[in-house]
This record gives sequence, C-alpha cells and structure tokens, in this order.
Amino acid sequence: MTGPTATFGFRDVDAREKAGLVRGVFDRVAGRYDLMNDLMSAGVHRLWKDAVAARLNPRPGETIIDCAGGTGDMAMRFAKLAQRARARNGGAPARILVVDYNAEMIAAGRARGLAPEIAWAVGDAQRLPLPDASAEAYVISFGIRNVTDVPAALVEARRVLKPGGRFLCLEFSRPISEALRAAYDAYSFKVIPEVGARVTGDREAYQYLVESIRRFPDQAAFAAMMREAGFSQVEWTNYSGGVAALHTGRAI
Ligand SMILES: C[S@@+](CC[C@H](N)C(=O)[O-])C[C@H]1O[C@@H](n2cnc3c(N)ncnc32)[C@H](O)[C@@H]1O
Repeated sequence: MTGPTATFGFRDVDAREKAGLVRGVFDRVAGRYDLMNDLMSAGVHRLWKDAVAARLNPRPGETIIDCAGGTGDMAMRFAKLAQRARARNGGAPARILVVDYNAEMIAAGRARGLAPEIAWAVGDAQRLPLPDASAEAYVISFGIRNVTDVPAALVEARRVLKPGGRFLCLEFSRPISEALRAAYDAYSFKVIPEVGARVTGDREAYQYLVESIRRFPDQAAFAAMMREAGFSQVEWTNYSGGVAALHTGRAI
C-alpha cells in the first residue's frame, strides 16, 4: 500500500477502501441489526441510548442531526422526547435528520414506521448534505468508529452546528478497570462473533465490530480529537464502567 491507510478492524487497509468495506458490513446485517444489539448487550444498549437522549434534551423547533443514524434507534428517542416537550411548552415540531451512508440501514429504519419529525438522507459523515451552522445539535451513536477519517467527520460536525450547538458522541470505549477489561475482552472476542454468525450468518461482520472497538481511541484520546476539531466544554461520561462512553462538547 502506498497511499494513506485506515483501520478496518485489526487490518490496515487503503483509506479509499474502508468506506466500501464498512458499507458491506452494514448492508449484510441491516435486517437483524436491532435484534443483534439486544442480544449482544442483553438490552443494555437501550439504557445507554435512553441516557444520551435525556442528556440531549431535544427541544421544540430544534434541528437535530442523527449522524450515522442507521435504523433510527436514536432518532426515535429524540422524537418522543421532543413531542413531550412540545406538549408541555408548545412551539414548533423538532426536525430530526437521520444521515447514514447505507441505504439498507435507512430502509430498515423506515420500515419501523417512525415519527413525522424524522427525515432521512443517504449521506457521508465526512460530507454532510447540510449548510453551515444549520443545526442546534449533532449526535453520532456507535457511528464514528466506522468513519474513515474521524478528524474530518468531527470538523464536519462542527461546521453544520450553530455556534454553541451541542455535540454528543456515544461510542464503545475502554473499560476503566483491568478486571472488567479482561472479562469484556473474553466476552467480545469469544461470544459476539459466534452469536453474530448464528443470528446473521455473518461472523466476519461481528469480528470487525469487536476489532474496531479495540482500535478506537480511548476516552481521553477521543476528547483530545474533539478539542483539536474546535469543540469546547469537552467532557465524557462512562457507561457500564467505560464499556461505552458519551463524549459531549459545544461548537465554538
Ligand atoms: C453501528 S451502526 C449505528 C446505528 C445507530 N446510530 C445506532 O446507534 O443504532 C453504524 C452506522 O454507521 C453508518 N456509517 C458508517 N460510516 C458512515 C459514514 N462515513 N457516514 C455516514 N454513516 C456511516 C453505517 O452505515 C451504520 O448504519
């Protein structure tokens, strides 16, 4: 390989190939994606996502981007909270835009019959189909790890946010205790690819998932990348002992 490389699980691949490889993974698992999340995490991913939605606190009239939004699992939560806030306080409906570069994931999301506030667009986190300073909030949940050029996606997130706009990133991260790390490693490398193989028929997709988690920067390193991209008030909250972490910041 001569040009720039990107990680694809434990492999380093030509950066130009990564997007196609990741798209292939999600094309293949789209139909069973939501079920697999429940099986792999024993439903705990729902609690993490609920906590992120509560932290976002969607308000009436806001434009919220659910980047790499997949089947709309986060968008659905935002819509419910925005509807409740509107019932209490009035105001215009929120606009929630799911952007994902995988049409299969979006199709699986649309089939769930989601709320009228939600719109869908096929697009890349590195080149969002949105004008500058057009959103109050940007959320990316279990998506950033899959992006080829993470710093470019962070700069793009900042571009589309209004000054002061909220950035929230939920991602698998690094368990803080050694004991938890060892148990989690054993579980993820032995159990997850096996369950993935049985449920989706695609062991490789779930092998990619666990490898990509290991290669993603830890909490402090990702916070540094956010600051580098121009976010302020950067902080993180660990979930389940750091198995996942929510990073938050504000567009300057
Ligand atoms: C693990 S799923 C997460 C879906 C959803 N956010 C959730 O929390 O359930 C990752 C999603 O990221 C999307 N994705 C990966 N790279 C992307 C990119 N560069 N731009 C937009 N979406 C991307 C994939 O198509 C997939 O739907």
